Amino acid sequence: MSKLELQVFTGNANPELARHIVEYLGIPLGDAYIGKFPDGEIDVKINDDVRGSDVFVVQTTCTPVNESLMELLIMIDTLRRASARRITAVMPYYGYARKDRKDEGRVPITAKLVANLLVTAGVHRVISVDLHASQIQGFFDIPVDHLYATPVFFRYLRELEIPDMIIVAPDAGSIKMNRAYAREFKTEYAIVDKRRLGPNLAAVYNVIGDVQGRNVVIVDDMIATGGSIAEACKIVKERGAKKVYVCATHAVLAGDALRRLDDSPIEKVAVTDTIPLGDKKSRHDRVRVLSIAPLLAEAIRRIHRNESVSYLFNGEFLPPL
Ligand code: R5P
Repeated sequence: MSKLELQVFTGNANPELARHIVEYLGIPLGDAYIGKFPDGEIDVKINDDVRGSDVFVVQTTCTPVNESLMELLIMIDTLRRASARRITAVMPYYGYARKDRKDEGRVPITAKLVANLLVTAGVHRVISVDLHASQIQGFFDIPVDHLYATPVFFRYLRELEIPDMIIVAPDAGSIKMNRAYAREFKTEYAIVDKRRLGPNLAAVYNVIGDVQGRNVVIVDDMIATGGSIAEACKIVKERGAKKVYVCATHAVLAGDALRRLDDSPIEKVAVTDTIPLGDKKSRHDRVRVLSIAPLLAEAIRRIHRNESVSYLFNGEFLPPL
């Protein structure tokens, strides 16, 4: 039997990231046409022979999220019908993840719906980074490699050499992630406690922990509207924090997010390239984009060779910043 060939294709959501990944892997990007019919329906043609191959499709499901997702589903369908041996969806940002449970009546669980759609289309495996909720892995009955951007941010923070550092979780949901940072930098962590005292009352913010005179690093999985980060920044400043740094994996940056960041007394905001920033980046000179491409490329290489992916959690493979 011939050797299983590794091939990487990309949709239109973040082709630059895919190009960095294949550069790191030292292979060409797969040749595919992902366009549209005149009525807006998505049209796909895979131009390379994929019969019997180990195929990875890089497609982050960010804005325009419905289009990104549909492109991914159609690409998977195409590859399956073209007899690819194994198809892995590389979704650095897993969109529709916020609805991961029914927290009130008559609402969907879109994270599960997306999982069902991917499997129905024919995917065999999924790779994602900093899922909004870890339990999304369990929405699939196929292997899911959940990678963390922590090695990339650890290296960045080490380079900054921030004195008197304290890690701050902007909400209770991100405590686990923040605890890992505190452990790595042998420092303490604090938590922003947000409480809504009534349906029509504004939320009240409190800080559990002492940030007085400390340089704060706020860690979150995403910046969507920027509301959580802006509020966390405001309250830690009120409690006497010196400089405030932010590390957030997914730069969703919806609506007024950039204005909110601009208006907040943040020293630096580090995000990754799971979502392309395009010209948004040039509007905010404090934003630093760290590439997640080496992490994803190494994961692809290891999965292709049937090697352990846990090795990626220590970051030793990362090239210098
Ligand atoms: C919350 O569960 C998440 O970890 C983020 O804090 C949140 O989704 C960010 O959203 P926004 O930027 O709109 O506050």
